[in-house]
Amino acid sequence: MSQIKAVRGTRDLLPPETKLWNHIEATARRVFARYAFGEIRTPIFEDTQLFSRSVGEETDIVSKEMYTWEDRPRAQSEKAQSLTLRPENTAGVVRAYIEHNLGDAGLLQKLYYIGPQFRRERPQKGRYRQFFQIGAEVIGPPSAGSESPLRDAEVLEMLATLLGELGIADWTLELNSVGSAQDRPKYVQALREALVGIAPTLCVDCQRRAVTNPLRVLDCKVPEDQEKIHALPKIADFLDDDSRAHFAAVRAALDACGVSYHVNPRLVRGLDYYTRTTFEFTHGGLGAQNALLGGGRYDGLSEAIGGPKAPGIGFAIGADRLVLTLQTAASGDRSASALADVYVAPLGEAQQAQALVLARELRRAGLRVELGDGTFRLKKSFEFGNKLARAIVLFGEDEARSGQIAVKKFATGEQAKVPRGELAEVLRKS
Ligand code: HAM
Repeated sequence: MSQIKAVRGTRDLLPPETKLWNHIEATARRVFARYAFGEIRTPIFEDTQLFSRSVGEETDIVSKEMYTWEDRPRAQSEKAQSLTLRPENTAGVVRAYIEHNLGDAGLLQKLYYIGPQFRRERPQKGRYRQFFQIGAEVIGPPSAGSESPLRDAEVLEMLATLLGELGIADWTLELNSVGSAQDRPKYVQALREALVGIAPTLCVDCQRRAVTNPLRVLDCKVPEDQEKIHALPKIADFLDDDSRAHFAAVRAALDACGVSYHVNPRLVRGLDYYTRTTFEFTHGGLGAQNALLGGGRYDGLSEAIGGPKAPGIGFAIGADRLVLTLQTAASGDRSASALADVYVAPLGEAQQAQALVLARELRRAGLRVELGDGTFRLKKSFEFGNKLARAIVLFGEDEARSGQIAVKKFATGEQAKVPRGELAEVLRKS
C-alpha cells in the first residue's frame, strides 16, 4: 500500500526540537506578561470576507494563498458560507475586539497569541504552508491613547527585549511610515502615474498591481524589477505633518531607549491594512526568507470590518524562523540535555508493577525518569539505560525486599546501594 505523507508545506515537529519551541513560547509568554499583555485564542478558520476586507483583495495572501472552501449547510436553517483557514491573526483579533465590545471599557486591549497560520505559498526553507506565529496587538479607542507613538515604540522595545532574552542579537529593525489614510491616496496616485510608463517593462504580477493596487508593486521580489522600483516616488515625501510628527516621535523614543533601526522607505508590507508605522526585524542567518517578524499600525482596520474607531499596532513573529535562527546559532550539545535523570530497570516481570511505583516516586520528586521492561536481559537494560539516561537503577527482588536500591552513574561509572528514601537526592546530584 502506498505510504501517506504529511501534506506539502506542512511538517511534524518532533522532540528534541519541540523543546526549543516550548522554550521560545515560554520566553515569549514571560516577556509579554511583564508588558501586561493577556492571551487571546481565536478560531483557526473565519468567514472569508474577514480577510478580503482587512488584508485586502489584491494582496498575494488573499488573491493566491488562502485555503478557502464553501461550507455546506447541515440544516435548512443554515446558509452556505465561504470559510478560510486563517492566513494571519490580526484580522481575527480585531474581529473579536469588535464582537466582544472590548473597547467599551475605554482602555487599551493588549493581546497576544501563539498558533498556526495557513498560506498556500511555494514551500522552501523558512516558508511553509502551515507555519506558526507568536504575535501581539495593542488596540483601543483613541481616548485610551491607542494612536500614541509611544505605543509603537513600546512594542518595538518589547520585541528587542524578547529577542535579547532568546539570545538573538544580530537582527536589523527595518522601519518606515506608510502615512495615514489621507496620505495614502496621494501617494498611490503618484505611484500610479509613475508606473504608467514603466509598468509594461515589469513582471506580470507588477503589470497587474500597477492597475489594481500600485502599492503592492513595492513588495515585488523579482531581481530585474528592482532598479526601476527603487526609482519610484517615496512615501516619505507624501506624509502630512501629523504622520511626519508621529514617525519622528517613534524614532525619538527608540533612540532614547537605545533600540537601533534602519529607515527603509520601501517597507510597505504585503497587507493592505497598515497605516503609519510599519516594521520588520530581519536576520542574516535566515537566507532568502530573512524576515523574522513583521508588523505595524492599522488605524482604520476596525472600521473596515464594521467596528468602531479603534487604532492599533501589532506584530507577528514567524516562530519557525525563530527556531531556525536559534538552531543555527546553537548546533550541538542538545543531546546531553535530552537525557533522562535515571533509567529504572525492573529485573524481572514480577518486579514490573513495583518498578512503576518506584518510577512514580522519583517523578513526584521532580526527576525525569525512563522506565524499562522486566522482560529485558541485564545487558539490554544497560544498553538502553546508557542511551536514554545519566544513571541506571536496577530493581529486582532483593531491592524490593531490602529497600536498598542499586544505582550506577554512567558518566563516572560509580556504583552504590542507596536507601530508597535517599535515592532521589543521590540521583539529583549526578
Ligand atoms: P506577515 O509579515 O505576513 O505579517 O507575517 C509575519 C511573520 O510571519 C513573517 O515575518 C514571517 O516571519 C512569518 N511568516 C509569514 N509567512 C510565513 C510562511 N509561509 N512560513 C513561515 N513563516 C511565515 C502578519 O501576519 C501580520 N498579521 C503581522 C501584524 C500583526 N501586523 C500587525 N499586527
